[in-house]
Amino acid sequence: SEDKGMFPPDAGPGITSTLVLSVFTAVLGSLQCGYNIGVINAPQKIIEQNYNATWLARHNASIELSTLTTLWSLSVAIFSIGGMISSFLVGRAMIINNALAFLGGALMGLAKLGCSYEMMILGRFLIGAYSGLVSGLVPMYVGEISPTHLRGALGTLHQLALVIGILIAQVFGLDSLLGSPELWPLLLGLTVAPSALQLVLFPFCPESPRYLYIIRNKESKAKESLKRLTGRSDVSEALTEMKEEKRRMDMERKVSITQLFRCRIYRQPLLIAVVLQLSQQLSGINAIFYYSTSIFESAGLEQPVFATIGAGAINAAFTVVSLFLVERAGRRTLHLVGLAGMMVCAVVMTVALVYISMVAIFGFVAFFEIGPGPIPWFIVAELFSQGPRPAAMAVAGGCNWTCNFIIGMAFQSMADACGPYVFLIFAALLLGFFLFTYFKVPETRGRTFDQIAAAFRRTPSLLDHEVKPSTELDCLGPDDNA
Ligand code: GLC
Repeated sequence: SEDKGMFPPDAGPGITSTLVLSVFTAVLGSLQCGYNIGVINAPQKIIEQNYNATWLARHNASIELSTLTTLWSLSVAIFSIGGMISSFLVGRAMIINNALAFLGGALMGLAKLGCSYEMMILGRFLIGAYSGLVSGLVPMYVGEISPTHLRGALGTLHQLALVIGILIAQVFGLDSLLGSPELWPLLLGLTVAPSALQLVLFPFCPESPRYLYIIRNKESKAKESLKRLTGRSDVSEALTEMKEEKRRMDMERKVSITQLFRCRIYRQPLLIAVVLQLSQQLSGINAIFYYSTSIFESAGLEQPVFATIGAGAINAAFTVVSLFLVERAGRRTLHLVGLAGMMVCAVVMTVALVYISMVAIFGFVAFFEIGPGPIPWFIVAELFSQGPRPAAMAVAGGCNWTCNFIIGMAFQSMADACGPYVFLIFAALLLGFFLFTYFKVPETRGRTFDQIAAAFRRTPSLLDHEVKPSTELDCLGPDDNA
């Protein structure tokens, strides 16, 4: 290993230049995912005008308002449909995935030139599919290459890059910048830039050592990768832990999504992973991120766009707060604090006073990023060992994107029906998620993947109480009853 890293092996807390480069390169994907979540908010009016012009040119008549609304909602929501479908395909192909981003970006960037909203909608679908894969692959890769004591902090970087992407898109989308009738194609096409950078950098990043060793059985390559990532020449400790996991894995059959559901031993971590994803999306966060401008407008603010950017900035700032707290306070505590804070803010939001409700919205966003934003993404990778991990990421991601889609589609009509009290629905849901987390979610901080998996196998309170040893062994090899 010629690359010993920028930091001397025993000076830092395990941070090497290779680790930094690898995490940075990976989360460029997250940045892009966030960019496309945020990019569609500001230029709505302008792109709608373009759709209208296209319609006029094709049909010699103005577009009906209802048709326009349908086309627009489709353009927005098809992104999460793309994410929903692709998250079930999570494999290991981060580099290939960029093809989706290039194709999607090109279609959206050229949609105006081609006078085609079909291009725009297809482009949004492809970039959504890209994002669905990213939200599985990035936390998985980062989790696998991180040293145990930094796994949460580095895992949070997926969400941090994502929220920075949202913020960049919100700022670029201002009509004085790229959100103008001439420049919006550039605003949407710009998404290919991080992909290009990622393609240049990935060849310099090592493959995950856990994948190389546990799945591909390539011990010397795994050692090489570990040496580069840790900057140490002696990687025996990490290797021993992987060996232990592999020993168990060799006795597990390959875990597919169906087996994940059938196998009792995965039931508890799967339930936790899925409910945490639901707690993220059904907290109502994207009601804010998709509709903030109109929420602030109806709250009586004069410059709602700037309040939206304010929410984006707070969103990014508090993700940084979580980043620094997560290895100290732990995932469970931060998730509980976040959910409780959001619940209080959701109740306060229903008070009609302009500035109080604005502060409550900001607080809602801040508490989201303390826990419910970053933690569900990376904790799934922590709850499962190497074999079932990709399948678990797929199921969790699929649930996340499905709920994302549901909220995106349903919030407007919910708000029409309930008025300002709509957030009380989220407050009630948040209470439920708080209780679930309190009673069911274990702390994973500072524990190796193998220790976490072992706890689910051993600790009766963490397992389905009904589990009988014999059924538990259905999907395991003959002598794995550790
Ligand atoms: C999380 C959610 C995403 C949301 C974002 C807001 O990443 O998965 O849906 O828009 O946080 O910061």
